[in-house]
Amino acid sequence: MEAKRVYIETYGCQMNEHDTERILCLLERSCYFETKDAKEADFILINTCSVREKPEHKVYSALGRYKWLKEKRGAIIGVAGCVAQQEGNQLLDRVPYLDMVIGTHAIPMLPQLLQKIEVSGERVCETSFDRDKEYLKSILPQKPLDKVKSYVTIMQGCDHFCSYCIVPYVRGREQSRSSREIIGEVKHLSEMGVKEVCLLGQNVNSYGRGLEEAISFPELLSCINSIEGIERIRFTTSHPKDLSEELIQAFSKLKKLCEHFHLPFQSGSNKILKAMHRGYTKESYLEKIDRLKEVCPSIAVTADVIVGFPGEEEEDFKETLDLMEKVQFDDLFSFKYSPRKGTRAAQLQDKIEEKVKQERLSILQEFQKGITLRKNQELEDRVEEVLVEGQSKQSVQDVTGRTRSNKIVNFEGDLGLVGNLVPVQITKAYAHSLKGEITSAQGPSICKLQSMICNF
Ligand code: 5AD
Ligand code: SF4
Repeated sequence: MEAKRVYIETYGCQMNEHDTERILCLLERSCYFETKDAKEADFILINTCSVREKPEHKVYSALGRYKWLKEKRGAIIGVAGCVAQQEGNQLLDRVPYLDMVIGTHAIPMLPQLLQKIEVSGERVCETSFDRDKEYLKSILPQKPLDKVKSYVTIMQGCDHFCSYCIVPYVRGREQSRSSREIIGEVKHLSEMGVKEVCLLGQNVNSYGRGLEEAISFPELLSCINSIEGIERIRFTTSHPKDLSEELIQAFSKLKKLCEHFHLPFQSGSNKILKAMHRGYTKESYLEKIDRLKEVCPSIAVTADVIVGFPGEEEEDFKETLDLMEKVQFDDLFSFKYSPRKGTRAAQLQDKIEEKVKQERLSILQEFQKGITLRKNQELEDRVEEVLVEGQSKQSVQDVTGRTRSNKIVNFEGDLGLVGNLVPVQITKAYAHSLKGEITSAQGPSICKLQSMICNF
C-alpha cells in the first residue's frame, strides 16, 4: 500500500487530544502517517470542540486556511469531534469543499470512510451514536512510545445536563468501558514504556454505572495501582456531587495515585449553582474540599469556573471570589459564559453584558494569579519527586517534568533522565512553573508522611 500523510489539527479538551492520538494509531494501519506540515498532507482533519463559542468558530477559519490545499493538491478534508457531531450534514452544506464529517462515536469507521472518499469521491457524514460501545474499544499503539505519559479513556458522555453545557448532546450519555479492557490497555502502555496514565471521562466518578460487572471508580483505581511499570495515576474530570468518601480515601491508600484533584465548581453562588443545575451548594463543595485536605494535606486542587452566567449579580460574583479565597486553588481554568444552542441556559433572559463578563473574568484571574504564585512558593526549598518528560523549552541544558501535584519543574539534567522519577529540590517558584536542582535526598511528600503518621 502506498504511504500517505495525514495532518490533524486538534482543539479542546484532553479527550479530543486523546481521540487524535487514537485516530493516528488507526490510520497508521491504513498506511497514513502523521505529518506536522499541512502542505504535504493527503488528508487534513480538524478535530473540533464546541464547549464554547470561540473554539467552535475556529473550525471555520481552519477550513478556510486549507481550502487551497484541496484545490491545489486534491487533499481530502474532514471535520471530527464535537462540532462535527453537532452540525452533521449542515457542515457539508455550508462548506462545499469539505469531504468528511465524522462524529464523536464514529472514530473506528474512519479508515473505511476515507477509503470510500478515495474510491468514489463521495462526501460522507457519520454522526450516529453507537450503543454497542465499539467506539470505546482499545486502539493500541503497535510500537514503543516516545512519551512517558498517556491518556486512557475509561468512560465517555455525561448524564448530568448542566444547563449551560453542550457535552451531553455531543458526546452522548454516560458509557463506561469494561475494567478488563481498560486494564489490558494500561498493561500494554506500560510495556510500551509509559510510566504515568491519566484516566479520562467527562465524569469519572460515575465510572461503572451501567456495566454488567460491579465495579466503582475507586476499585478501578486500585486495580490500576497494582499494574507493574506504571508509577503514577491521575484522572480527570470529576463532578462534586458524585465525589464519594471512598474516592477521597483512595488518596491515602493508593501509592501511585498522585496528589492532585481537579474539581470544577463553576460558581460560588448557590443561586447560580441552582440555575446551572449542578446539584450541590457552595457549602457542600467546601466540605468535600475540606475532607480531601484532611485525608491528604498536600493535595493540589484545581478547578473550572464560569463567570457571567445569566442572572449573575455582583453579589453572586463575590461568592465565587469568596469560594476561591477559602479553597486556595493551585490553579484555576476560568471562562466567560458562552450560550450554546440547544442547552436550557441559552433560553434564559437576564443575560450579562460582554463588558461585565470581561471585567469579572479579569478580576478573578488577577486574584487567582496571586494565589497560584503563593502556592508555588510554598514548594520552595522542598524536595519533590519529578517524573522527567523531556527537554525543557527554556534551555537545552534543562529537562522538564512534573511533580506529583502536577506542577511543571525545569532543572539541569540530561535526556537520559527521561522516564525516571527523580528527587528535585525546588529553588525558585514562578507563576506557571518551578525551577529546581536534582538532589540525592528523596523527601517524602507531606501526604505520604501524614498517612504514615495516621497509620501509627
Ligand atoms: N460557557 C462557558 N464555559 C463552559 N464550560 C462548559 N460549558 C460552558 C459554556 N457554555 C466550561 C466549564 C467546564 C469546562 C470544561 O468548560 O467550566 O467545566
Ligand atoms: Fe457538562 Fe455538567 Fe456533564 Fe460536566 S457534568 S460535561 S459541565 S453537563
